[in-house]
Amino acid sequence: MKLTIERLGHLGDAIAQGPDGPVYVPQMLPGEEVEGEIQGDKLLNARILTPSADRVKPPCPHARSCGGCLMQHARDGFVADWKMGIVRGALAGQGIEAELRGVLTSPPQSRRRATLSGRRTKGGAMLGFHARGSDQLIPAPNCQLLHPDLMAVFPALEALVIAGGSRTTELSLTLTRTLAGPDVIVAGGKPLDGQLRLDLARITEAHGLSRLTWGDETVALRAAPMQRFGKALVAPPPGAFLQATVEGERALLGAVRAAVGSADRITDLFAGVGTFSLPLADQAAVHAVEGEAAMMAALDKGWRQAQGLHRVSVETRDLFRRPLEPDEFKGVQAVVIDPPRAGAEAQTATLARSDVPVIAAVSCNPVTFARDARVLRAGGYQLDWVHVVDQFRWSSHVELAARFSRA
Ligand SMILES: C[S@@+](CC[C@H](N)C(=O)[O-])C[C@H]1O[C@@H](n2cnc3c(N)ncnc32)[C@H](O)[C@@H]1O
Repeated sequence: MKLTIERLGHLGDAIAQGPDGPVYVPQMLPGEEVEGEIQGDKLLNARILTPSADRVKPPCPHARSCGGCLMQHARDGFVADWKMGIVRGALAGQGIEAELRGVLTSPPQSRRRATLSGRRTKGGAMLGFHARGSDQLIPAPNCQLLHPDLMAVFPALEALVIAGGSRTTELSLTLTRTLAGPDVIVAGGKPLDGQLRLDLARITEAHGLSRLTWGDETVALRAAPMQRFGKALVAPPPGAFLQATVEGERALLGAVRAAVGSADRITDLFAGVGTFSLPLADQAAVHAVEGEAAMMAALDKGWRQAQGLHRVSVETRDLFRRPLEPDEFKGVQAVVIDPPRAGAEAQTATLARSDVPVIAAVSCNPVTFARDARVLRAGGYQLDWVHVVDQFRWSSHVELAARFSRA
């Protein structure tokens, strides 16, 4: 059966109109003519008859099977337009039209944190990502996503899998690039005993890891796993949120700075370990609010040890259950808000009733962003612009930063 791909779904799956409804075909692009056997809503053994001009040779040999990347077969410009379209569509769903400023895409080999899987094998260890929609492990020796400093951790990860993994279970290995060497968290490993502790300490030392966390326990700390935010250095607690690439963080911070202008009193909501609070403290007194006490403590310590910053106060608070009320924004000239994927429904409702002149909103989910944008607009804010930021290149994730101001 021959079909023509009409569009891409939100997860990058290509969609064609079959005789009995939509048919999904992985790894195809709009306009491509494909042939295969329809089974249910899928096209099996799909062959391309007419390739799209947007099709490119994937830079990674595992691109077809590895679940780490979905869009390596498409030109960067195509992916950027597709991601802009996702944001435009989410806004249109709430009746909003906005100025979309270009897409800032992080380069290949720039991811500074990632989670891989590892399993013991007969001869040693295997590391990789899961195949698309399956448990199968696809090796990632030439991964085009990860920063070279993370690729260089692979021998350490193999040693960890050999020391603390088994051939029947899989380990989850989360790595973060830090100024003091890689910070590694291992989940699913053998229970700790005396020998394993010694082995893990030896591997940490031999491979220059900054910190090793096994399950919930930090078993080795060779050096504080510092990150730089503006003039401050912060050692985030294990597993703390961090923007995925330095380039993505820079793009988001640039947009946030452009949004808040010269504001000298800023409240940073869902502040994490200070990605925005600490750089903004070179121009403003900042109140940082975040749900995780350990992240607030790390931010506070980083601020106290830095020189030449305005005051940064911290508050641990669940902003879903206890959002800041309008009177708590008295005198605040700008709010930065960067919630998790669920968005910030409760906090947006109170912000919409506040007098804050400017809101810099960062989001990793255009759908919840658009929902919250509608509430702000109903409260009298205008959406001035939206920057699309792509720090998860070749994936279906989309991030953005936007400016709202009191109309
Ligand atoms: C997308 S991250 C942004 C963090 C920070 N702005 C950054 O760029 O690094 C969202 C943050 O919201 C925090 N968070 C999640 N749920 C929360 C809640 N109910 N109340 C307060 N903070 C929450 C998370 O711990 C996380 O640090």
